[in-house]
Parts: sequence; structure tokens; C-alpha cells
Amino acid sequence: MSDTPKSHGRKSIRATLQPRELITPTPELARAWKAQVITLLPQAFPGVLGESLTGRALKDGLWSLAPVDLRPFGEGKHRNVDDTPAGGGAGMVLRADVMGRAIDRAQDSAPRGAPLIYLSPRGRRFDQAMAQRLAQGPGVTLICGRFEGLDERVIEHYGIEEISLGDFVMTGGEIAAQAVIDACVRLLPGVLGNAESAVEESHSSGLLEHPHYTRPAEWQGRPIPEVLTSGDHAKVAEWRREMSERLTATRRPDLWDRHLKSQRDKA
Ligand SMILES: C[S@@+](CC[C@H](N)C(=O)[O-])C[C@H]1O[C@@H](n2cnc3c(N)ncnc32)[C@H](O)[C@@H]1O
Repeated sequence: MSDTPKSHGRKSIRATLQPRELITPTPELARAWKAQVITLLPQAFPGVLGESLTGRALKDGLWSLAPVDLRPFGEGKHRNVDDTPAGGGAGMVLRADVMGRAIDRAQDSAPRGAPLIYLSPRGRRFDQAMAQRLAQGPGVTLICGRFEGLDERVIEHYGIEEISLGDFVMTGGEIAAQAVIDACVRLLPGVLGNAESAVEESHSSGLLEHPHYTRPAEWQGRPIPEVLTSGDHAKVAEWRREMSERLTATRRPDLWDRHLKSQRDKA
């Protein structure tokens, strides 16, 4: 098996502007946001990222994806990637030397300045602000753990940032990696059309989004709130703001407190 990262997306993308691309009408493609994913399950990618908006953007070259298969970096005939935990205990741990080789290989083809991130339930909780920060950079190199996770020395040696999807434990980092990539890719310029603007949605303003309605006008005896069919745009905007605030205050007091504090700081 080859250890060359298999790339999804437009084949013409390069990390730097080459002379040929300087004369193409779309040289910005050379700087497309790049996601590299170190994983024992490279076949799980692009997965759902190959569908719908993210899939179209991948085909259009707005971003690129390079899964890096961990297995070929393994030890011995069987390419072992894990071993028993030092000090005893259940489960297996991904070996530092094996992961180190995979990271070095991935770093060779990472855009300069792309952060190295380990998906981990111990990490900082992923949120929209992180997605915005990552989407504004050149890309990410994500490490998917399996078993009990990574040898700690790898995290220390490379200064790896740990990101968690939430306070629960999954069997591996692949689903978390796809969630992080999806949240970032949809913020890249040109990925969402006007119809799917990211400006007004939940978390972009620090508040949860207002409820949505569409046809039929009445369903199961439930009509659409009258204001939404009034044609009065100012009233609709006011209703949506009120609903957004009410939902945030009742469902997420933590977000609501932060919102009130930022309003006070602005005043
Ligand atoms: C079974 S988990 C390891 C859990 C680890 N022993 C612990 O208690 O923190 C295997 C891998 O799944 C991934 N994973 C599990 N839950 C996650 C979460 N909430 N967020 C991000 N990654 C997660 C991580 O990459 C982790 O290394």
C-alpha cells in the first residue's frame, strides 16, 4: 500500500502559485483551503463531505481533502500502529513513533501555517468561533485517534491542539474530523450561495436562530405565525430577533449571559 496521501478534489490544485496558474483566470484555486486527515480509516473520507454543498465545493476546487493512511507507517510485517498502555490497564494506545512518522509526512504536504489538531474528548469544545478561525487559515491537519488514543509525547512534541466535539466518547476521531471540516468548509468564500447564508444562523451572532416555517400555511391545525405572512419586513425582523433572544435565554443561559455581557461592553 502506498503511503502517499490520496487527494480528493481538483487535481490541478497546488500549494503555491505556479507560473502556469498566474495566467489562468482562477489563480486563487492554488490557495484552496486544505484538510489533511491522519486516520486508520482513509476509506471513510470524503464520506458525507463528498455530498451536497461540501461535495460540490470539493469538486469545484474551493477546498481539497487528503486522507493520510496511518497503517503504512506501522511497525513490522503487520504494520502495527498500537501497543499496550505503559503502567497497565485496558485497551491499546497509538504508538508515538508510528504517529510521528505519519505527522512528518503530512506536514510535508500541509500548507504553511495550517494547525495540527488532535480530535479528542479531552480537548477544548469545538464551536463556531473555532470554525471561523480555522476557515480563515490555510487549512488543517487533523489527527483521528482510535483505541485509548495517542501517546502523550506526540501531543507534547508537536505542540498539538486538542479539540473535542462534545462531552461524550466516540470510538474514533473520524466523525469528529468530518464535523470540523464541514463546519469550516461552509464558511469558505463561495461555498454557500446567498440562499444558504451563514451570516444569520445560530451561533454566528452569539445567539440561537429563530424558528423557520414554510408551506403549507396550516399543518395539523398549526398555522404559520401571522407576522411571517404579513409582508411587513420590519415586523418580521423584529419578531425573529425576539424569538432568537427568547430561545437563547431559555435553552442556553450560558450563551445568553455572554450575549448580554458583550452588549454591555459595546454600550
Ligand atoms: C475511545 S476514544 C478514546 C477516549 C480516551 N481514552 C479518553 O477517555 O479520553 C478514541 C478516539 O476517538 C476520538 N474521539 C472520541 N470522542 C471524541 C470527542 N468527543 N471529540 C473528538 N474526538 C473524539 C478521539 O480521537 C479518540 O482518540
